[in-house]
Amino acid sequence: MERIIIEGGIPLKGTLRVNGAKNSAVALLAAAALTDEEVVLDNLPEIVDVFVMIDILKAIGMKVTRRGKFEWHIAAGDHLNYQTPSDIAVKLRASYYFLGSLLAKKGKVNVALPGGCQIGARPIDQHLKGFTALNATHLLEDDQVKLNTEHLKGGHVFFDMSTVGATINVMLAASMAEGTTIMENAALEPEVIDVANFINAMGGSVRGAGTETIRVTGVKRFGSCVYSCIPDRIEAGTFMFAAAASGGDVTLSNVIPEHLDAVVAKLRESGQEIDVTLDTIRVKANPNPQAVNIKTLPHPGFPTDLQAPAMAFLALAQGESQFHETIYESRFGHAEELNRMGANITVNGQRAVAQGVEGYVGAEVTATNLRAGASLVIAGLAAQGTTYVAGVEHIDRGYDRIVDRLQSLGAKIRRESRPNWPKIV
Ligand code: EPZ
Repeated sequence: MERIIIEGGIPLKGTLRVNGAKNSAVALLAAAALTDEEVVLDNLPEIVDVFVMIDILKAIGMKVTRRGKFEWHIAAGDHLNYQTPSDIAVKLRASYYFLGSLLAKKGKVNVALPGGCQIGARPIDQHLKGFTALNATHLLEDDQVKLNTEHLKGGHVFFDMSTVGATINVMLAASMAEGTTIMENAALEPEVIDVANFINAMGGSVRGAGTETIRVTGVKRFGSCVYSCIPDRIEAGTFMFAAAASGGDVTLSNVIPEHLDAVVAKLRESGQEIDVTLDTIRVKANPNPQAVNIKTLPHPGFPTDLQAPAMAFLALAQGESQFHETIYESRFGHAEELNRMGANITVNGQRAVAQGVEGYVGAEVTATNLRAGASLVIAGLAAQGTTYVAGVEHIDRGYDRIVDRLQSLGAKIRRESRPNWPKIV
């Protein structure tokens, strides 16, 4: 149990390279179980969720070797187990991607019901509907999802809502099913395209990823490839809001700017100066940010994963910023903590209103989930005085060495083990 300590009020300045995308990396790792040969996955972020997915790969019998900081070699072992280790799988939500890849590869799979951030009900009915359409049966037993099929066949799936997880999962299963699967109302997120590209690089046939209709034609076996994960648009967006909130001037490299159109638009609307090149984004803060409204939507709308970081910034903007969280029922846990630092945010169900305040004051706050944690770090960077952020384990799930990297931008930030905590007076 550790905490992050921030001496706030220092504008972030400098250049930072954005790491590989968490939400792609976890799916690419599950997809690697599809092949009998060796694949190389590059640009994977050094985060807890990636390490947990690698532990599951090893536990089911894959050989995984790390070469260099971001590069992993993954090869089939002698025997691939359809039973994933429940004690590891419950640690994160993305373990459910083994449902798709192991169903395809083994015709049978057991995965513990998924964990992950507590931000709403997060059912998996659309995943199960898709597997059923591919001729698999499912059973919920002993807190596990158990899938089985005599023969996986292509099918027609219409998703009831835009769902990243179910789109990727059904795509993974369909990649080895006999015939063609058509997925309609598929999610448009860049992570879906990244997984489709990886499947194709291994010799699969996925067409239309990035549109609402995806066609997957199953193949009998997959080959080897070298594949690089896309940059993390959510990590990039987090640093963009941190730059704006701290009054800084930060250039992010290794970004795909089109993935961040909604974020760039909102920051510009609030008065920030944003320069975009082919693969960099520079944020020059405006000392008098204006309030803007945020409605979270599936891609290309404003991402729910940046709602909390955006709120940490907009709570300091002049005027009233309104937030409408349409993806999750309870993703405003950070508002109460931001209020402890001086924000004036009122939450009502899936809506929240921030009346802009002059500034934050350092306080002891607790991260209750990954992006809430990021928002508290942003507030701490902007605050007068010292902020103590507990719940660091949530932040470690998705941000690669956030403390070191913010230090490289001039922040006075450090992390400390709980036993060494100084008494706060
Ligand atoms: C992914 O979650 C991300 N996680 C989330 O990242 C992200 O918030 C979310 O997509 C939306 O962009 C990973 O990629 C590992 P969904 P996922 O299926 O796939 C409902 C972060 O901070 N739904 O797109 O689980 C669901 O409840 C996080 O990095 C069903 O009702 O999200 C939600 O309201 C947290 N039934 C909406 O759809 C289903 O079967 C979108 O969920 C599936 C989803």
